[in-house]
Amino acid sequence: MFLSCIKTMNIIILFFLFCVGLSHGANQKTPFHGRKGQWQLLLKNTGVVGMHMALTYKNTVIMFDQTGAGQSRYKLRKRFDGTMCSTSRNDLIDSTCYAHSIEYDISSNRIRPLRLDTDPWCSSGSFLSNGTLLQIGGYHQGAKRVRFYRPCGNHQCDWKQSKKSLSDERWYASSQILPGHDRVVVVGGRRTFTYEFVPKISPNEKSFELPFLHQTNDRNSEGNNLYPFTHLSSDGNLFVFANRDSILLNLRRNKVIKTFPRIPGKGSRNYPSSGSSVLLPLDHKDKFQKVEVMVCGGSSTGALKAARRKRFIEGLRSCGRMVITGNKHTWEMDYMPKPRFLQDMLILPTGNILIINGAKHGCAGYDNARNASLEPYLYSPNKRLGKRFRVLKETKIARMYHSSATLLPDGRVLVAGGNPHGRYTFHNVAYPTELRLQAFVPHYMEKRYHTWRPSNLTIEHVSGGGGDNHAIGYGKEFSVRFLLRKRENDHEVKFSVYSPPFTTHAFGMNQRMLNLRCKRMVRRSEGWVDAVLEAPPSSFVAPSGYYLLTVVNGGIPSMSRWIQFVHA
Ligand SMILES: *[C@@H]1O[C@H](CO)[C@@H](O)[C@H](O)[C@H]1NC(C)=O
Ligand SMILES: *[C@@H]1O[C@H](CO)[C@@H](O)[C@H](O)[C@H]1NC(C)=O
Ligand SMILES: *[C@@H]1O[C@H](CO)[C@@H](O)[C@H](O)[C@H]1NC(C)=O
Repeated sequence: MFLSCIKTMNIIILFFLFCVGLSHGANQKTPFHGRKGQWQLLLKNTGVVGMHMALTYKNTVIMFDQTGAGQSRYKLRKRFDGTMCSTSRNDLIDSTCYAHSIEYDISSNRIRPLRLDTDPWCSSGSFLSNGTLLQIGGYHQGAKRVRFYRPCGNHQCDWKQSKKSLSDERWYASSQILPGHDRVVVVGGRRTFTYEFVPKISPNEKSFELPFLHQTNDRNSEGNNLYPFTHLSSDGNLFVFANRDSILLNLRRNKVIKTFPRIPGKGSRNYPSSGSSVLLPLDHKDKFQKVEVMVCGGSSTGALKAARRKRFIEGLRSCGRMVITGNKHTWEMDYMPKPRFLQDMLILPTGNILIINGAKHGCAGYDNARNASLEPYLYSPNKRLGKRFRVLKETKIARMYHSSATLLPDGRVLVAGGNPHGRYTFHNVAYPTELRLQAFVPHYMEKRYHTWRPSNLTIEHVSGGGGDNHAIGYGKEFSVRFLLRKRENDHEVKFSVYSPPFTTHAFGMNQRMLNLRCKRMVRRSEGWVDAVLEAPPSSFVAPSGYYLLTVVNGGIPSMSRWIQFVHA
């Protein structure tokens, strides 16, 4: 009895040491030091502007713009009601003969049109725990609508509009999936100083006043607080940043429980100033309790008024980082290589932040920006202050207002859209409507690192999940297997999970990364490695739903696999 107990302990200690052994020396220089990445042109014409974009767990990407923009470059042969679109003059100018939403299939690099009944222009979105995209609000008749998109692998699925409507109009609002039940909170909108839940728990549940949205509203500049940055803290409270200020909101008690210091610097961070924000990766080492937000860029005070007179003021260079948990809150300031707004900020599988798209002068809105930011930046959160930004390979295609970007499961970043005009405009303007689809291919995908790249990642064994194959219960262990051809002892093997965002107007809603605990790791023959990982402890830390699991070997990520965290 005693002996066998010691034996078990020995085995555990051996495995454990091995896990730590692989994690030794995290600060070594990665082999790709100095590399800048590449650009790929994927499609010349997506037909519609990639203004809103979201990656589904079926490896498709949903994109849409606005039904009010008239004739898109995706002409339908048949209307969605089944009637033919002829070449008659009437049909040529009939907007129902044109698509305004598409599904992009990553593996075949093809698109197909999707049906929209009302206008989802400048709306928000969140994935539910079963992978269905819940998309909220829009313009005009779409402003109070809720739409569902249930992803599929067979090109048959489409948008469905809910019969229930929102309490308030949500145009330029942000949404966030919540812990526990499949509920989303949607915050703000133009002239809407409230938040509400979708779906409602009871039929008479209404929206809730949020005076903070009044206080931060810059009336002379179209708000400067639209598309507020919303992040779910791991205590279940909602962080809301608008204009220059931020609060922590307890949604159960409808109460502001913290008011954070104002971010330093002049200017504003939210639409139409349109900086961006991310939640930095959460880590198992502190039980996911340290929650830190980052806000970057934006426009200078008066930028909108000036842009209307065709004067384009330089944007903001500053970025602030602040820990929102605990009880000490200060913004640590840093500076991007150049001013930037209208940028997307995406968490790469390595845990670094990619800053891509945007402009240097002016602000968001129609024809309000000049000097496109053609070079992405790589921000390494764990490097020393002053050493965190790196300039990557430039593109030739401007992506400013109404562009977006999203991470793909193979590690590339899909980049689409750009249209600073109310309609599709291709001639005689500084920045024409942009329908080309690109991928930014980060340095870690170069051929020379293929031997470093963990491959053939599979999820082998799941204990205590739901019925589904890759559904994993909170706090449960699960095993993964992968091939690791080359590993040097001084490089770390890490495991991350990532919930892909709904991106629009320079903000990736619901984007979240967690570094998981590796409990043991064993090297088998011919390069195979088995690892036992621990799922996040609760839906406060990681709301239920689909995540991309990635193994990262010394800064080189594997292809990601979908897993789902559920309440067991
Ligand atoms: C997911 O849940 C939503 C809302 O309950 C439902 O409309 C949808 O059909 C579900 N999707 C799947 C894939 O089961
Ligand atoms: C574009 O940037 C350059 C260099 O900073 C600046 O001189 C120029 O005025 C900018 N253009 C506009 C239209 O703001
Ligand atoms: C790994 O995956 C690749 C591509 O999916 C496949 O061709 C190869 O046979 C796999 N290798 C092993 C050893 O299973």
